[in-house]
Amino acid sequence: MNKVIITLSIVFSLSQATALNTEMQKYMKTLDNEAKKENPSFSGFDYKRGEKIFTSEHIGKNNKLISCVSCHTNELSKQGLNEHTNKVIEPLSPSANAKRFTDVKDVQKWLRRNFKDVYAREGSAQEKGDVITYIISKK
Ligand code: HEC
Repeated sequence: MNKVIITLSIVFSLSQATALNTEMQKYMKTLDNEAKKENPSFSGFDYKRGEKIFTSEHIGKNNKLISCVSCHTNELSKQGLNEHTNKVIEPLSPSANAKRFTDVKDVQKWLRRNFKDVYAREGSAQEKGDVITYIISKK
């Protein structure tokens, strides 16, 4: 019963943050199922863990310290600047950029690349879900 309430409140808080389209909601559900398989004590995606994933620095692909913030900044409703190419990146927050988190293939592609940039590996299902939860909920 508790699980049901927790799940409902997560689904509710996610839908409060932004109205993810059906395709994205399915993707989040898939990540949720995978995260449960990876970690039996997993109890839902977490904003705080996502914040840490997004803001902490790591030795990335190019052997120097980098974080998600390096390119996207931590003001997600503003433009960022690609550290590697110096190209402007449009805001990551769906509240500022309606195209964000609408195309699952794009989201998967960039999460794969960007986790490699920063963590020199792919993200786990839990990490991806946590960081998406952070990005779409951050004010
Ligand atoms: C080296 C620069 C760089 C770093 C570091 C970086 N990103 Fe990105 N990110 C990009 C670029 C470039 C794009 C694609 C261009 C665009 O969509 O504006 C992108 C796109 C994305 C998208 C696609 C969203 C959508 O719906 O279109 C997500 C999600 C994302 N990044 C998350 C992250 C996360 C999480 C991290 C840290 C693990 C991270 N990024 C680190 C450059 C970066």
